[in-house]
Amino acid sequence: GHVLVLAGGLSYEREVSLRSGRRVSEVLRSAGIDVETRDTDASLVPSVLADPPDAVFVTLHGGAGEDGAIRSILELLHVPYVGAGPDTCRVAFDKPSAKAVVRSVGLLTPDSVTLPKETFHDLGASAVLTRIVEHLGLPLFVKPARGGSALGASAVRTAEELPAAMVGCFAYGDTALIERYIEGVEVSVSVIDLGDGPVALPAVEIVPDKGVYDYAARYTAGHTEFFAPARLSAEAAAACAEMAVTAHTALGLRDLSRTDLIVDAQGRPHFLEVNVAPGMTETSLLPMAAEAAGQDLGTLCRGLLEIAAA
Ligand code: DAL
Ligand code: MG
Repeated sequence: GHVLVLAGGLSYEREVSLRSGRRVSEVLRSAGIDVETRDTDASLVPSVLADPPDAVFVTLHGGAGEDGAIRSILELLHVPYVGAGPDTCRVAFDKPSAKAVVRSVGLLTPDSVTLPKETFHDLGASAVLTRIVEHLGLPLFVKPARGGSALGASAVRTAEELPAAMVGCFAYGDTALIERYIEGVEVSVSVIDLGDGPVALPAVEIVPDKGVYDYAARYTAGHTEFFAPARLSAEAAAACAEMAVTAHTALGLRDLSRTDLIVDAQGRPHFLEVNVAPGMTETSLLPMAAEAAGQDLGTLCRGLLEIAAA
């Protein structure tokens, strides 16, 4: 048999996905697996029907790759895959929904407002934004409700910066999440479940050289300094691990996930978002966390595929 790695897709994160897919395919081949790599166009269905893989590794980021749509097709085709199912993805990929779920189980997450593009135009942009600043205060962070890789995301320090941030956000999505900006250390915690329950990998600390972890800082080698494990107190590190595992469990995620969070000056983590298809590129966080834990990425991915296929 063989496994299928899905990469590419039509979202704004297509290039990132192709890089994730290449990396996962390479490490799986090194781990002795027969790998086929495919984009997700209309030929996916006939090709899977003609030669069904033992299992699928989805390295599609954004859009259909993370919102559950592609996974619904895999369910329809009865092929097993690594990661959460369609209903779970739909909730987890939508940042406002994910925040509501984790808040309901007691996790801290920044106060926020969700604003569809239509509301923004109907109510009159400046009136709406004035009210949001009154309600949430400053600084703020604006990002598409369903997006990734910091595309369309920006920090807002003064009320005057908010309109441009909204325009930048709506270029990448039709719903904006406007969050209170929490000052602190940016940390990411990957969670892996190899059959014995979800386990947090070491937290990775992110220090972008220009202070902003934007698209270039994410995917250009050398633009960001990473500390794995993060330079946190033992208590803060434990709180981050607990937050990631709790988010994974509360959202009903499966196999793997990555929770991004901010650790404030008091050492308290604040949930920002969870990724159902974490980046697997050379500069991505889950592979770094695995390395920090002394785990071989190929062995890890093979293990996840074996569990999915079992
Ligand atoms: N959305 C990108 C791929 C990540 O979270 O790693
Ligand atoms: Mg993300």
